[in-house]
Amino acid sequence: MSEYLLEMKGISKSFPGVKALQDVDYQLKAGEIHALLGENGAGKSTLIKVLGGIYHPEKGSIFIDGKEAAITDVNAARDNGISIIHQELVLVPRMTVAENIFLGREPKGTFGVDKYKMTKDAQKMLDNFNVGIKADMEIADLTIAKQQMVEIVKAISFNCRILVMDEPTSSIADKEVNALFSIMRDLTKRGVGIIYISHKMSEIFEVCDRVTVLRDGMYIDTCNVPETTRDQLVSLMVGRELDQYYVRDYEASDEVVMRCTHISDGKKLHSRVKDVSFELHRGEILGFSGLVGAGRSETMQCIFGLTKGSKGEIELEGRKVEIRSAMDAMRYGIAMVPEDRKLEGLYHTQSVRFNSTIEVLDQFISHLYVNTAREAEITQEYIDKMHTKTPSQEQMVTNLSGGNQQKVMIGRWMATAPKVLILDEPTRGVDVGAKAEIYEIMNELTKQGISIIMISSELPEIINMSDRVYVMYEGRITGCINREDISQESIMHLATLETTGGNDHD
Ligand SMILES: Nc1ncnc2c1ncn2[C@@H]1O[C@H](COP(=O)(O)OP(=O)(O)OP(=O)(O)O)[C@@H](O)[C@H]1O
Ligand SMILES: [Mg+2]
Repeated sequence: MSEYLLEMKGISKSFPGVKALQDVDYQLKAGEIHALLGENGAGKSTLIKVLGGIYHPEKGSIFIDGKEAAITDVNAARDNGISIIHQELVLVPRMTVAENIFLGREPKGTFGVDKYKMTKDAQKMLDNFNVGIKADMEIADLTIAKQQMVEIVKAISFNCRILVMDEPTSSIADKEVNALFSIMRDLTKRGVGIIYISHKMSEIFEVCDRVTVLRDGMYIDTCNVPETTRDQLVSLMVGRELDQYYVRDYEASDEVVMRCTHISDGKKLHSRVKDVSFELHRGEILGFSGLVGAGRSETMQCIFGLTKGSKGEIELEGRKVEIRSAMDAMRYGIAMVPEDRKLEGLYHTQSVRFNSTIEVLDQFISHLYVNTAREAEITQEYIDKMHTKTPSQEQMVTNLSGGNQQKVMIGRWMATAPKVLILDEPTRGVDVGAKAEIYEIMNELTKQGISIIMISSELPEIINMSDRVYVMYEGRITGCINREDISQESIMHLATLETTGGNDHD
C-alpha cells in the first residue's frame, strides 16, 4: 500500500501564452483535508481539472493507491472515485434539484425514471444540510448560495474516495459552512481524502490538515496547518511580505449624494426588500452587512433599475430621479458590479479588452471611428492597477481564472468614473494580494469624490473598510452604525434582530 491515496507527479499544462502548471507535485492521504492555496491564476483549478479528466496534461502522471491511473476523461475520473465541485456552477438551470443531483444515474422504475424515488432520495440528502431546499424546485429559482449547496450535496452523493472542492463556500452562509465542515469531517473518518480550495484563510485553519501552495503554476511548498501561520502562508503565496490588508485612509464628507427612501421590491409574496431607506455621503464607503439572504443585493437591484415594479424614491445630488432600467441608472452616474459575475456581467467569449471598456466605449467613438489606442490604454491601465493575470488584452475572459475575471469586471466599472459605485461582494474569490489592491483602488476612488456602496459578507472587510454600515435583516434595515461603533458585536446584533412584520421566511 502506498502512503498516499492520490499522488500527482510532475504535472505540466500550458494554454496558448500561459504555462498554467509546471512540474507540479501534489499528494493526498486518505482521511485528510488538504488545502490547495495560491493567488488568482496560480493554477489551482487547472490542477483539479487535470485530476478530473477535463484537461490533458502535456507531462506528468497520476497515481491512486500507488498505481498509475489513466484519467482520460470525466468518466474515468469518476470510476477512480474522484468527485469534484467546480468553481463555476455547472447545474442545469431548467431542471429540478433532484434531476440535477441524479443527472445521468436516475433511479429507474417500471416506467422509466422513478421520479418519486429520485425526489425522495434527493430530499433526504438535502435535509442533512438543513438549508430548506426542496428537491422538486427548479435550479433557476434558487439563490446562488443555494445552488452552491446543491452542487455540494451532489458531489458528496457519489460515494467518492477523493472529493475536490474548488471554492465551495464562496457564496454560502456561515450556518451552511458549518454544516459543510461537519460533513467533511465525517467523510474523512470514512477515509475519504478531500482537496480543499479556498481564498478564505480562516477556513484553512479551521478545517484543513495540510496545505500545498502554488505560485505562478509552480509547486512552492507543503506545510502542516497546525505548524504554520497565516503570514507564512501569505508570503509563500505572493512571494513577498504583505502586512496591511485593509486600510481605510480617507475621511468622507457629510454631504448627501444619494438618498433612497421607502425602497421596496413591490412584491406581495416573498418580498425581499421592505421599506428600505438610507443616505449615502460623498466620498464614502458605505457598508451593507447582514446574513446571506437579508435582501442586500435585492435592494441594490431595485435601486439600479433591475427589479420590475419596485417602489420608492431616489434622490441624487438633491434631485429626484426615476430609474426604470440599468440604462437609466448608468445615465445618472450609478454603476454596479453584481454579485454573480458569471450570469450578470461578463461577456465570456469576448476579450479582456472588450470586457474592460464596454461601458466606456462611447468615449472612444468619435466621428464613427473607435479610438483603439485609447481603448487599449484604458484596458492596460486597469490590467496594471489590478495586476490582472492575462497573457494579453485579446485573451477571452472565459479563459481567465475566476479571480481574474472578477478583476476585469471591477476594473470595467471603475473606468466609467461613476458618482455612485455599487460593489456586491467585491472581493469574493479574490486572493489576498488582489484584495489589498481592490481596497487601495476603493480608497483612491473615494478621494476623487466617488461614493461606494459595498455589500459584503466578510465582516473584517466591512469593519475595516466602511465609513458607516447599514445592517439588514429579512428585507429591512435594522440599523446604521457609525465608524467609531463598528464592531463584530454591533453588526451581528443588528443582523439577527427581529423587526415587526418581518416574518416572511425564505
Ligand atoms: N482554458 C484556458 N485557456 C487559456 N488559459 C487558461 C485556461 N484555463 C486557465 N487558464 C490560465 O491558466 C492560469 C491558471 O488558471 P487557474 O484557473 O488554474 O487559476 P486558479 O489558481 O484556479 O485561480 P483563481 O483563484 O482565480 O480561481 C491562469 O493564468 C489562467 O488564465
Ligand atoms: Mg480557480
